[in-house]
Amino acid sequence: MVPGEVTTIHLIAAARPNFMKIAPLYHALSAELWCEPRIVHTGQHYDSNMSDAFFSDLGLPHPHHHLGVGSGTHAEQTGGVMVAYEKVCFIDRPDWIVVAGDVNSTIACALVGAKLLIPVAHLEAGLRSGDRSMPEEINRILTDAISALLWTPSQDANENLIAEGVAAEKIDFVGNIMIDSYAMLKDKIQAARTTSTLELIPGEFGVVTLHRPSNVDHRETLRSLLEQLAQAARFIPLVFAVHPRTRKSIDEFGLQPVLDSAPGLKCVEPLGYVEFMNLVERSRFVLTDSGGVQEETTYLGIPCITLRDTTERPVTVTIGTNELVRHEDLLSRIRGIVDHHMKQGAVPKLWDGNTAARVVASLRQRCASQ
Ligand code: UD1
Ligand code: UDP
Repeated sequence: MVPGEVTTIHLIAAARPNFMKIAPLYHALSAELWCEPRIVHTGQHYDSNMSDAFFSDLGLPHPHHHLGVGSGTHAEQTGGVMVAYEKVCFIDRPDWIVVAGDVNSTIACALVGAKLLIPVAHLEAGLRSGDRSMPEEINRILTDAISALLWTPSQDANENLIAEGVAAEKIDFVGNIMIDSYAMLKDKIQAARTTSTLELIPGEFGVVTLHRPSNVDHRETLRSLLEQLAQAARFIPLVFAVHPRTRKSIDEFGLQPVLDSAPGLKCVEPLGYVEFMNLVERSRFVLTDSGGVQEETTYLGIPCITLRDTTERPVTVTIGTNELVRHEDLLSRIRGIVDHHMKQGAVPKLWDGNTAARVVASLRQRCASQ
């Protein structure tokens, strides 16, 4: 850090789960005099209910740079972000790049930084599912391999990085920044009226989100899941916030009639963060394949059924309320929770709403020693 000079930092925002990781950090860095954060939105998610709604809920300004990359194949999306972001770095070269999570834009921007010799910090580093058929697992491994600074949300993440040969001095265990967003908006979340707008009784409904390719990209798998949801909705009302990827599959596979056959199953568009968290914290249980939702339910002590074989967030299972459930067991597990056979959980270490402050301290210390 050169005395008197301000350190510029690009915060990469791209897809829905990034916004609640970047927002607390943007606010914390904005309050510092030694640095200037700038938001770069790659445009990976672009519908207003997948992007603008979160900027508004989380108090984020318009992005300083918008790459407008949009959807495509993995190569199109990753390559498109790289080409567009490199141009931004040529005209507005930052001192640091912060990437979050595990989406295609995360690895794309990290690669650009590494090649231009701009140090990259990875927020939510070290998570591993062990399943390399997930595109996110490839993004996680590669981003961690080329980042200069690795901020981990849980101790298992430190262990994963050390096992991969990463030098311990690159790793800072800072905790889970998603919880900072919840803490920041807790009052608004509790005052929201999503439950009453959807005519639901608190504690007597389940929330559903699904978007993983393994669950929604194949007709028979998705049909079987939707049929089980329709059956479950006979004994507990369900709200299904349908992700655009899932909406596309439902339409393409002609599965809307399955949803229409179940009066207890309310399908809604993707919800804003405040509205969604209001539903989650009042639900009996959540059924999901989302990474972030596994963490939020653990923090709130809400039972979570995760429709996956693996999770890169094992503390949500070992410490929290999360359970990995196979497709064939889904209906019986929902029945069990409705009958009050629920897993109790605790909150993992450093999931306390103060992660952004620890990240700022970590970055400042690195800058000071540069
Ligand atoms: C992406 C991430 C995934 C993350 C998820 C969060 C990758 C490889 N995947 O998956 O890790 O869990 O975001 O939600 O980075 N679409 C729209 N409007 C939008 C965005 C997407 O209609 O605003 C539709 C398009 O048809 C698109 C499809 O959703 O082709 C998938 O979008 P994409 O960003 O490629 O992947 P996600 O499934 O959203
Ligand atoms: N979320 C939301 N509205 C919804 C569904 C999810 O605000 O309709 C929030 C959720 O609270 C969590 C984040 O989106 O903070 C998770 O994003 P997503 O499930 O898309 O991605 P993942 O975490 O699986 O990568």
